[in-house]
Amino acid sequence: MNHELTDADKDKDSASFVTPTGEKIVLTFKPFRIDVFIKKELTVSINSKNLLKFEHFREKGAADTDEEGFWEESFKSFQDSKPYGSSSVGVDISFLGYKFIYGIPNADTFALRSTTNSEPYRFYNLDVFEYELNNPMALYGSIPYVIAHNQHQTLSLLWLNSAETWADIHSSTADKGMLASIVDKFRPSSEVPQIDVHFISETGVIDLFLFLGPKPKDVFRQYASLTGVTPLPPQFAIAYHQCRWNYKDEADVAGVHAGFDEHDIPFDVIWLDIEYTDGKKYFTWDSTKFPTPKEMQNQLAANGRKLVTIIDPHIKKDSGYHIYKEAQDLGYFVKKSNGDDYEGHCWPGASSYLDYMNPTVRDWWASQYALDKFAGSTENLWIWNDMNEPSVFSGPETTMEKDAKHYGGWEHREVHNIYGLMMHMSTHQGLLQRSNKRLRPFILTRSFFAGTQRTAAVWTGDNAAEWSHLKSTVPMLLKMSTSGIPFVGADVGGFFKNPDEQLLVRWYQAGAFQPFFRAHAHIDTRRREPWLFSEQTKDAIKKAIKARYRFLPYWYTLFYEHEKTGLPIMRPVWAEFPEDENSFDEEREWLVGNALLVRPVMDPDVTQTSLYLPGLSEVWYEWDSHKSRPGPGAVYIDTPIDKIPVYQRGGTIIPVRERPRRASKLMRNDPITLYIATNYKDFANGTLYMDDGETFEYKNGDYLYWGFTFKKINEYDFSISSKNLDTNGKFDPDVWIEKIVIRG
Ligand code: NOJ
Repeated sequence: MNHELTDADKDKDSASFVTPTGEKIVLTFKPFRIDVFIKKELTVSINSKNLLKFEHFREKGAADTDEEGFWEESFKSFQDSKPYGSSSVGVDISFLGYKFIYGIPNADTFALRSTTNSEPYRFYNLDVFEYELNNPMALYGSIPYVIAHNQHQTLSLLWLNSAETWADIHSSTADKGMLASIVDKFRPSSEVPQIDVHFISETGVIDLFLFLGPKPKDVFRQYASLTGVTPLPPQFAIAYHQCRWNYKDEADVAGVHAGFDEHDIPFDVIWLDIEYTDGKKYFTWDSTKFPTPKEMQNQLAANGRKLVTIIDPHIKKDSGYHIYKEAQDLGYFVKKSNGDDYEGHCWPGASSYLDYMNPTVRDWWASQYALDKFAGSTENLWIWNDMNEPSVFSGPETTMEKDAKHYGGWEHREVHNIYGLMMHMSTHQGLLQRSNKRLRPFILTRSFFAGTQRTAAVWTGDNAAEWSHLKSTVPMLLKMSTSGIPFVGADVGGFFKNPDEQLLVRWYQAGAFQPFFRAHAHIDTRRREPWLFSEQTKDAIKKAIKARYRFLPYWYTLFYEHEKTGLPIMRPVWAEFPEDENSFDEEREWLVGNALLVRPVMDPDVTQTSLYLPGLSEVWYEWDSHKSRPGPGAVYIDTPIDKIPVYQRGGTIIPVRERPRRASKLMRNDPITLYIATNYKDFANGTLYMDDGETFEYKNGDYLYWGFTFKKINEYDFSISSKNLDTNGKFDPDVWIEKIVIRG
């Protein structure tokens, strides 16, 4: 909402107004403070601790300080020239009545920990080698966003700043906290739990957004209305992806392609890492290893499959390389503080970095993806943007110097955390243009910021083949999902090191129920295609991948619904059960949509696994056995090596496809099976979305959004009905319902 103060307000000590939804906002001018009252209770207070800070830019000479480090700083052998002196912006925000706060995607716990006795959370997009878990350190992406949740109310806050940022989190009870006096006035009990967040950024302006809920789903929608949603991806993108650094040559690609068929394991996409290029020059191919890339793509396409290749932002310094030459001539690289082209080391050796802050550079970069420009590319090729923090092997903390200069005079320090976002946005534009806006693009990015969801999927970077890393996929992906990025995944199997067979199987089982499902491995690891292991392991992996394909109609429907509502696809339990306090720190299980609860095995040698079934008056059905269990409560389930604990929530209907095929494209006309799980009222409903799976025609009405309802009519009879939920949808697929399974 917009509220402008009147002149009369400005003469007073404070002003207050009421939002259209009834919250009261009180602004106090000296000292400055904003208090938000929800249902008459003080719930959020901004600057009640007086940490608001605005250290502006200075001019050398005119400044009133010569404090050490103010005008220049050094880090190891690097000098930061700090032409505007030391600047900073910061503010404190207190959430009253809250014990739990989430957000801040990184490799830490899902429910954020207090940093009272530790380092603050750090937001600075970095290529961290072998990152540590349970650590507030910076990682590849930054979303300075927190969500406070309790049984009655969910709120969130975005600190919109793309410079290096830190957040301290402190939890206490208000009777001891600094807000005690005002809280006592407005809260009946003084024992109010409280969480204080302090954001501070190196530069920039104060741009703060508060989303008032009241429910988790309202907050997701409100945040999405500001930062955007992920548009419906092409169907292949939500199927299974096979990657490694590297598939060596065309014969290797063909071998893997054939191996999946031979062993009857579906897959949709094979990926090529940096070794496919001619000397790490992106938009080129190694002509010995990949002499006929178009034929290779066409062969994949003949079986409904795709290729993804990697394109990084560092451009090899080589005047014989067309991209480098043109960008250099046109002045498209980031500059050093002295105005020369910035230079750093990355995979190809000496490289320069494109300045994606410049709209002309973004247009130019987008045009490189045109089929007649990117030699050897076809419409079956999609893109992976990696190393876009940006990673600079020779730079401070493996990134770019803060005093490097961008278009418009911006220093790198001001825009560091959106460098990757600008790059993948531009790639997205290129892939759109390439097909004349006919095909929906697919892009994977490593670096991300608030808003990344509009143009790319994200993965959690270089994890390791360790049980702890498998476990960390859940909090890491939940953090991203609840922070607005729904299309997220982690390298299945672990990037570094070699997983043993048990770990690999368990990782596939978890990955099959996470939004982006891709196996990937470091160049020094042993090969891991599923048929290279024992029969038992191969079969268990196959079963997990097939589970992914079975649920594709449900996943696809959820992605469509995300585009409409902003709801995450992988959801923490509290998103569906906001009142179930037992689940507030849950980070072993999650929900896919509203209907499937998944708790994969993430420990070695376990034969039984416990999981929590949430919700009062809920009933849950174990997927394979149909056995029902009431919520809330814990259950134990036998988990032999091929078992994935999955429960369907009573009251839901899930559409699946049960005819195995080699790739998702070949399933498009297959019939649907409905799994109906009744609740205590003998009721269930669910939805199914369908379209052509790849074009934007769904925007012109070429889709179908169907609803199914199961109802009890009397003691002996029930009805199942279906209905077109959106009559604007005119798609007429040749698809029927072949089977209905009723649980309960
Ligand atoms: C770093 C990425 O995180 C990893 O996935 C990739 O394999 C290597 N770069 C090589 O491109």
